[in-house]
Parts: sequence; C-alpha cells; structure tokens
Amino acid sequence: MKIILLGPPGAGKGTQAEVLCETFSIPHISTGNMLREAVEEETDLGLEAKALMDAGILVSDEVIVGLVEDRISKEDCNNGFLFDGFPRTIPQAQALVNRDINIDSVVEIHVPDEDIIERMSGRRMHQGSGRNYHIVYNPPKTDGKDDITGEDLIQREDDKPETVKDRLKVYENQTSPLINFYSKMSEQGKLNYVKVSGTSLPEEVSTEILSKLQQLD
Ligand code: AP5
Repeated sequence: MKIILLGPPGAGKGTQAEVLCETFSIPHISTGNMLREAVEEETDLGLEAKALMDAGILVSDEVIVGLVEDRISKEDCNNGFLFDGFPRTIPQAQALVNRDINIDSVVEIHVPDEDIIERMSGRRMHQGSGRNYHIVYNPPKTDGKDDITGEDLIQREDDKPETVKDRLKVYENQTSPLINFYSKMSEQGKLNYVKVSGTSLPEEVSTEILSKLQQLD
C-alpha cells in the first residue's frame, strides 16, 4: 500500500500518519521529520535546510527528491509506505511519475486556515520521534512530556503565527495545485483520491479515512 497524505500545514497529516502506518504496517516517511533530524545532527543538508524551514520556505525539489529516493530504496519500504509532507510541488509529484512509483491512494485532509493558526500555537512535539501533541485537543499524559519516552516536548520554531501564515501562502501557491494533479490521475483510473474534513476529533478523522480506504478494497 502506497499512500500520500496531502493537506496544509497543521491539517493533521502527522497525527493521522501514525494511525494509518500502524493499521497498514507501512513506514511513515515524513520529509519534515527527516529534515528536522538533519538539522539536529547538523549535517550539510541540515545546515542548508534550517533557515528555509524556520522561515516556512520549501527546500529545493532536487534535494527532497534525492532524500526520498534514498529512503524508499530501504528494505522496509518493499511493501509500501506513507508519504507525509511529500510531494509538495508539481515537480516532486512528477518525479514520482517519471520513476514509475505508483501511488495507490492520495488522502486529502481539509482544514480551514483559521483553525490551523490556533492548532499550531498549541502543538508540542517530541523531537526524537516527531510525535505530535496538542495542549488542548491531544494532550500528553504528563504535561510537557512525551508519552513513550518521558522526554521533554518542544515547540517548533516554524509554529509562530507569522510563520504559519507564510507557510499557508506557500501551501496555496506551491502545494494546492497537487489537488488538481492527483484528481486528474484519479479520473484516469491511476490512483484513488479520497478527501476528508480534518476538523472533527483526531480519532473521528482516522475512522473516516480508514472507512473510505477500506471501501476501495
Ligand atoms: P512539515 O514538517 O512537513 O510541516 P507541514 O506539512 O507544514 O505539516 P505539519 O507537520 O506542520 O502539520 P501536520 O499536517 O503534520 O499536522 P499535525 O498532525 O502535526 O514541513 C516543515 C518544513 O520542512 C516545510 O515548511 C519546508 O520548509 C520543509 N519541507 C518538508 N517537506 C518538504 C518537501 N516535500 N519539499 C520542500 N520542503 C519541505 O497536527 C498539528 C497540530 O494539530 C498538532 O498539535 C495536533 O496534535 C493537532 N491536531 C491534529 N489533528 C487534530 C484534530 N483533528 N483536531 C484538533 N487538533 C488536531
């Protein structure tokens, strides 16, 4: 099973990815998490990506495609994978087509901009794993601590309201054209396109996605 999760920053892609990857036993490939790891480890890629990410600007298509190509060549991807935050531009999507990487389903999670700004200010993240929480909607068991490791949670640099507004503009200009790109592929019978609203509770969103994906079987 090869799935793409598509949606604006803060739509809940990372949150839903955890459930879908466990259900279908596939690895979660988040380009955002991979870049944040590189920043943490201060690799060349991390040093190049940090300023762009902090400003909400996209890293170059060439770098991202190389990163993803390398990741999906690993053995754990033999039975599929879930892309979260990739592709994010038409050239990235086209790179998958050119390499005959056939996606089964694209899941679009729709959330209005006003809800996103509020969500981002309450997000907390476990840096080591990329696990996400929200102080109101999805709180950790202990305030400020990761449920699994007990380590401290952090607030992402790019979750400041001004940067979130910029990221929403980047989504509108560079990523939302993928809605049309994948809808057309779906009309041509090349993949399934599923759209859900991401405004209900996280577990209700998961139920809706899973039921729509299972109807396709
Ligand atoms: P990335 O890390 O991919 O960020 P993003 O796509 O902007 O998405 P987020 O991780 O912010 O949100 P999400 O949709 O995963 O939501 P989440 O589940 O966390 O990318 C960061 C940067 O890296 C980019 O700006 C760019 O610079 C670079 N980059 C990454 N990929 C790239 C690429 N392919 N090309 C070029 N550059 C790239 O949820 C958000 C919050 O809401 C959480 O607190 C969560 O608990 C809460 N929440 C989730 N669901 C619900 C719900 N149903 N109700 C209420 N709250 C909810």
